[in-house]
Amino acid sequence: MKYRQGVMRGVGGAMGNLSAMMKGDVKFGNNHLRANAESLAWLSSLSREAFQENTGTTGPTKSKANIWSSWSDFAGKAQAFEIEASKLAELARAPNPNMAAIGEQMKAVGGTCGACHKDFRE
Ligand code: HEC
Repeated sequence: MKYRQGVMRGVGGAMGNLSAMMKGDVKFGNNHLRANAESLAWLSSLSREAFQENTGTTGPTKSKANIWSSWSDFAGKAQAFEIEASKLAELARAPNPNMAAIGEQMKAVGGTCGACHKDFRE
């Protein structure tokens, strides 16, 4: 249970850092843009497995039980997240990243977070 939450916290950390960069709240080089986007993509690729084993809803958790009773729906939402996060990492990897395109792709990634949380998180 703590592991799946740790994966999500990593996801939240990378996404938060990317948002701060996009808003101009922090000004670091493209290495920071790339590292956070790559981290997000890597963690997105672990999210399905991190939840796959039913480690339950008793305890300090916001996971809903329908994750495991509607597994294919959950897995599909995890896959959508993985696809959008990998597109983001690809944009960030460019020698001269297109910030407007990255901003648009962040919205696409954010949409996949919301779609899953809406159905599967308290
Ligand atoms: C496939 C479903 C799914 C996707 C996609 C997803 N999440 Fe989550 N997330 C969850 C679930 C379920 C929980 C509750 C985990 C628990 O408490 O057991 C969670 C919890 C979290 C938490 C709280 C972690 C903690 O315990 O402190 C954060 C932060 C978070 N998600 C951020 C994000 C962000 C940002 C994205 C997109 C970039 C995202 N998530 C995408 C399902 C998802």
